Amino acid sequence: MVTGGAGYIGAHTVLALKNSGYEVIVLDNLVHGHQDLVKNVLQVEMVVGDISDRSLLDNLLQTFNIDAVIHFSAYAYVGESMKEPAKYYQNNVAATLNLLEAMLGAGINKFIFSSTCAIYGVPDIVPIIEGHSQNPINPYGMTKLVVERILNDFDIAYNLKSVCFRYFNAAGADPEGRLGEDHNPETHLIPLVLFTALGIRESIRIFGSNYPTQDGTCVRDYIHVSDLADAHILGLEYLLKGGKSETFNLGNGNGFSVNEVIETAKKVTGKEIKVVKSGRRPGDPSILVGSATKAKNILGWQPQYSSLQDIISHAWQWHQKRHTSKPQLF
Ligand SMILES: NC(=O)c1ccc[n+]([C@@H]2O[C@H](COP(=O)([O-])OP(=O)(O)OC[C@H]3O[C@@H](n4cnc5c(N)ncnc54)[C@H](O)[C@@H]3O)[C@@H](O)[C@H]2O)c1
Repeated sequence: MVTGGAGYIGAHTVLALKNSGYEVIVLDNLVHGHQDLVKNVLQVEMVVGDISDRSLLDNLLQTFNIDAVIHFSAYAYVGESMKEPAKYYQNNVAATLNLLEAMLGAGINKFIFSSTCAIYGVPDIVPIIEGHSQNPINPYGMTKLVVERILNDFDIAYNLKSVCFRYFNAAGADPEGRLGEDHNPETHLIPLVLFTALGIRESIRIFGSNYPTQDGTCVRDYIHVSDLADAHILGLEYLLKGGKSETFNLGNGNGFSVNEVIETAKKVTGKEIKVVKSGRRPGDPSILVGSATKAKNILGWQPQYSSLQDIISHAWQWHQKRHTSKPQLF
């Protein structure tokens, strides 16, 4: 069962699961998901419902013969989490706890969790390894850390085996153009740059040009969404073979600056992209890059699309096809 399977990373993972021969059921309340993609592209069974609904979960977990749960559903807007932490603790922690308890009740003990590099806060050292200290600087990151701690306790007490994947910046789209990113509102850099190329947005704002990086703009780790999806297949196989609970970074290992993203997008799209420079945003570390060596060594994960060119080309192919109306933007 894939919760949040109608969302961005979830849908790409459902596609990869299907391609690997797994039978999948999606549970999504469609608050941010896309029913059309599940219906027309993924063509898997979807239950429209909320993971906080215990009777729905009990029913589902008893009706279907579920081996493992891959849990993408969450709220994931950092800024919103600062203004409305209760909403985040409710959906990302309390509802996840509900899901875990329903799983235990149904005798299911394999769980894959979407965690985030936001749990590290401002890094002391890059590339960040899994043992780096964890000091989230916003409620969103804290909700993910709390779930990681719950999973640790549930393994000890209830033998629940989990894989926690700490994603860096998910980016790109299915290389065949069937799926892609469609957040509303959109806050991620690559789609916003591409909206500017498409003329949906007038300009792209650069927050800070005087960071201690090669060109003064912030450096981030962009990881292709199809590579993330593949990691989930490997994580699932690992658990099905009896692997112990583990936590893995999933990142590119190479950082790209905001300027590099914009310049690559200009090349890929052949369009002018208007840039507006403004001051730094509070809480933005200059460099956030992860080491994914552990996932490579233990799971045998090998990202296929590490170049910024590939990531942006696939995203461009998708956005040109998808966006006919103007999305709501920050
Ligand atoms: N996108 C990134 O760069 C990134 C980075 C790190 C971690 N993550 C995590 O990965 C996961 C997926 O991210 P995404 O970008 O695909 O997000 P998304 O918003 O596209 O997908 C989340 C899905 O969960 C569904 N959902 C939310 N609450 C639900 C609930 N209570 N019950 C049922 N369904 C619910 C939404 O409708 C949506 O389809 C999230 O947990 C997010 O925190 C994402």
